[in-house]
Amino acid sequence: MSYDTIIRGGTVVTATNTFEADIAISGGTIAAIGQDLGEAREIVDATGKLVMPGGIDSHVHLSQPSGPGITMADDFASGTRSAAFGGNTMVLPFAMQQKGESLREVVKQYHAKADGHCYVDVSFHLIIADATERVLGQELPALVNDGYTSFKVFMTYEGLALSDMEMLNVMSVARETGALVMVHAENYDAIRFLTDRLERAGKTAPKYHATSRPIPVEREATHRAISLSEIIDVPIMIVHVSNREAMEEIKRAQQRGLKIYGETCPQYLVLTEKDLEGLNMEGTKYVCSPPPRDTASQQACWEGLVYGVFSLFSSDHCPFRYNDPHGKLAPKGKTSFRWVPNGIPGVETRLPILFSEGVGKGRITLNDFVALSSTNHARTYGLYPKKGAIEVGSDADIAIWDPERKVTISQSLMHGGCDYTPYEGIEVTGWPVSTMVRGKFVVRDGELVGKEGAGGYVAREKSPLAVPVGTAAI
Ligand code: URP
Ligand code: ZN
Ligand code: ZN
Repeated sequence: MSYDTIIRGGTVVTATNTFEADIAISGGTIAAIGQDLGEAREIVDATGKLVMPGGIDSHVHLSQPSGPGITMADDFASGTRSAAFGGNTMVLPFAMQQKGESLREVVKQYHAKADGHCYVDVSFHLIIADATERVLGQELPALVNDGYTSFKVFMTYEGLALSDMEMLNVMSVARETGALVMVHAENYDAIRFLTDRLERAGKTAPKYHATSRPIPVEREATHRAISLSEIIDVPIMIVHVSNREAMEEIKRAQQRGLKIYGETCPQYLVLTEKDLEGLNMEGTKYVCSPPPRDTASQQACWEGLVYGVFSLFSSDHCPFRYNDPHGKLAPKGKTSFRWVPNGIPGVETRLPILFSEGVGKGRITLNDFVALSSTNHARTYGLYPKKGAIEVGSDADIAIWDPERKVTISQSLMHGGCDYTPYEGIEVTGWPVSTMVRGKFVVRDGELVGKEGAGGYVAREKSPLAVPVGTAAI
């Protein structure tokens, strides 16, 4: 029997095992795993390399409308190209509804932006900004059936924040349809109150973005989101958790038997509030929400990862160019941090940071790395075992890593549409050298060999993690 490709001589790492084996691929899926697999049209030498499921970044923003005069730095082509260079084979961006819009129309618009333009596979979460009767009663249930099986709700941001009543209504639809709700947990009124006060005191520099969103803002909203989900008996994922107090709210809920899941991101492991103090407007490069905190919070986020409170490590890639009036240097942003677009790039650097700071520094195992960066994302969002696995029958979505390569992260190494990386100068050991999506190289030995459009859209199953606990719900 002759296969299309055999990846030979590497160390295979999955979420549970590490072993020496070759991987045979035919028709885009994994056909065999073992030794002496026979012939193939192409043999890929992976001697000395790690062969892992490609990263799945389940929290990225691409081509999202971001307010008047503001343009996101990545479209689906540049964002997924950057993802591929970062060792990812799939990303899950958001299809964001704005007030008054039909969700079905929004989904169509995002398909038009994505279809034929991606380098890695994609699937969409929905963002619910307008929880009307039509959206809740008709559009959402139909979209969940069509494979859009997760949606994000915001407890903050003008035009996006839902009231508790609206959150309950959305959660209730999730319970009925088996979808998973992702929650951005920050208290909108508290942020507005603090922002107004800071501005009145003339405190408008970028660093005050962090002051306007202190830890209690996140802790309170996390607690409230958990309580609302408990009332409905519906599992939720609290995204981009930044500190101990929010982490411990989630941990306590988990200890009480609730299905509350958590996600954290690189910015909460290696950046701090101090980064927002950069001279002039440099601090805007780190403006994201929740903001990076301090070293004690970094330690707490590591604990969350190590002890399983957080099952996902995502980038929350949300890029705006720095030196650009349509990005971080928007004229209004110069008048107050309130108007600086929120979000930072990170899809290309997520995995090297976790690998180097996590595996390299002995905080997590290689298998934890695969779980946190790929397999858990597939399990959480209805993609496993098609994605996130090195198993016979799974898609041949594979990243080949050089675990010894030392790299100093720099914008000159990035492949997306942004003009800076917030991780500039961080030294990492371990780097993804090749990325293969469904058996075809997108990046090979550091060179782009895939074509725009090689990545496709993937409809998802319902998440097995979205099944309610089973306590009484009305
Ligand atoms: O600042 C951030 N995180 N921007 C992205 C949007 C979001 O809240 O995830
Ligand atoms: Zn968010
Ligand atoms: Zn986000």
